Amino acid sequence: MANGPTLETERLLLRRWKIKDRPIFAEINADPEVMEHFPAALTAEESDQLVRRIDRQFEQYGFGLWAVEIKWAKRFIGFCGLAVPSFQTHFTPAVEIGWRFAKDQWGSGYATEAAAAVLDFGFEEAGLNEILSWTLPANQRSIQVMERLGMKHAPDLDFDHPRFLHDDRLRRHVVYRITRSEWSESRI
Ligand SMILES: CC(C)(COP(=O)(O)OP(=O)(O)OC[C@H]1O[C@@H](n2cnc3c(N)ncnc32)[C@H](O)[C@@H]1OP(=O)(O)O)[C@@H](O)C(=O)NCCC(=O)NCCS
Repeated sequence: MANGPTLETERLLLRRWKIKDRPIFAEINADPEVMEHFPAALTAEESDQLVRRIDRQFEQYGFGLWAVEIKWAKRFIGFCGLAVPSFQTHFTPAVEIGWRFAKDQWGSGYATEAAAAVLDFGFEEAGLNEILSWTLPANQRSIQVMERLGMKHAPDLDFDHPRFLHDDRLRRHVVYRITRSEWSESRI
């Protein structure tokens, strides 16, 4: 497995993906509750393709959606990290922070803990000036993570996702943003 940045928090390790993560990730992506705000649950093949796309982003940008492991249990539970969207809209190119965890791990603060380390990496190591996150207005759990991180709704950036048709429930997205200066002020 290629080397890449590894991030560590009190409880979590954010690392490059291992082959043995793939079947567990496929189970996560097959869970309709985890995938409620996406077009559909993923097949195992689609899940593996996603891991390959994530690996390519690490090679291309030096960052990506890290595999997240609980340190004490050495257990892979999902991903959190940075991604560059492949679609175009009025604010792209951009860098997004995102997360997806196994349902039985929700409610432990893992997403917020991992994402705080990812923001630190994005501003300190990757030199980004702003980081965005977008989701459906109905995805309140994700929006709460954004708010816990100090991200703010940027209504001027809200958009209709170009991959979905006009009447699709998945089309309208809200966008949250944190700038480098907001991030450094929150650390004082
Ligand atoms: C979005 C998602 C990652 C949020 O997970 P989460 O566990 O709710 O988020 P957090 O890690 O911030 O955890 C917060 C919860 O843990 C609780 N918690 C427990 N121990 C904690 C601790 N030590 N520190 C912080 N929070 C803690 C909080 O009180 C909060 O509980 P609540 O939801 O009952 O209010 C998860 O719902 C998910 O994977 N969804 C599917 C994928 C998805 O939609 N991704 C986003 C697409 S845009």
